[in-house]
Amino acid sequence: MDQTDRSFALFLEVYGTLPRAGPGGDEYTRRALGLVPGAPKTVLDLGCGPGAQTMVLASALPGARVVAVDLLESMVVETERRVADAGLGDRVEAVVGDMAAPPVEPGTQDLIWCEGAIYNVGVTEALAGWRALLAPGGTVAFSEPVWLVDSPPDEVREWWTAEYPPMSGRAGVEARIAAAGYRTVGSFVLPAAAWWDEYYAPMRDRITDLRDRLPDDPTAAEVADGAEAEIGMFGRYSDCYSYGFFVVQPRD
Ligand SMILES: C[S@@+](CC[C@H](N)C(=O)[O-])C[C@H]1O[C@@H](n2cnc3c(N)ncnc32)[C@H](O)[C@@H]1O
Repeated sequence: MDQTDRSFALFLEVYGTLPRAGPGGDEYTRRALGLVPGAPKTVLDLGCGPGAQTMVLASALPGARVVAVDLLESMVVETERRVADAGLGDRVEAVVGDMAAPPVEPGTQDLIWCEGAIYNVGVTEALAGWRALLAPGGTVAFSEPVWLVDSPPDEVREWWTAEYPPMSGRAGVEARIAAAGYRTVGSFVLPAAAWWDEYYAPMRDRITDLRDRLPDDPTAAEVADGAEAEIGMFGRYSDCYSYGFFVVQPRD
């Protein structure tokens, strides 16, 4: 294993075995689903991670077939495990794939879900690309980092600008949605609890485990330090940023 592979393997020890791979929670997935018009029968869950929202979507939509897609095989395997344990395997398929070219036929999807993952492609680019996959009347739901304040302090503004240059307030996300030819059906902002309960709190335990297992390993220390810095940033500035959930449809 070369140094890059090893660093990524250690990164996955901290980030890859959490209940969810980003801020969120079942109640917020259900709240966003409540904004979706109609009763979707075909659902595409892009960037599914370990499948937390996949399980909510499949349970809340008993008449739907769900295809869950992630670039990382380990995430797909974990989603498959959760789906099988819940007895949902007949309606849910988890596959390795790229959200920039999802493995479904054009015009077939009633609902495209992308929780905490659309940043990998970009809001406008992703929405524009997914439009051809939607069935008539179809909907896209996604969550995206947003500023909650107009003038964040320099420390957090500079950190996010380095991490994710397109970061904007809700109005900026609305502008990116409109630029892709969509309108917003509804939106809301995740509370701070959505970052702590199933994401940063268990991540702290993974960081401790990694430091205990490899106390003198500089690569492990680098991964642990990076994760701790991210958690510390949210601890200091949770009033300045969060994720917004956006439910959108093509304008015509
Ligand atoms: C922040 S995680 C969110 C995962 C999950 N939706 C959740 O909220 O727990 C982003 C996920 O997107 C996946 N990903 C990144 N780029 C991707 C791509 N181009 N296509 C599909 N999945 C991708 C990553 O492997 C990761 O599992």
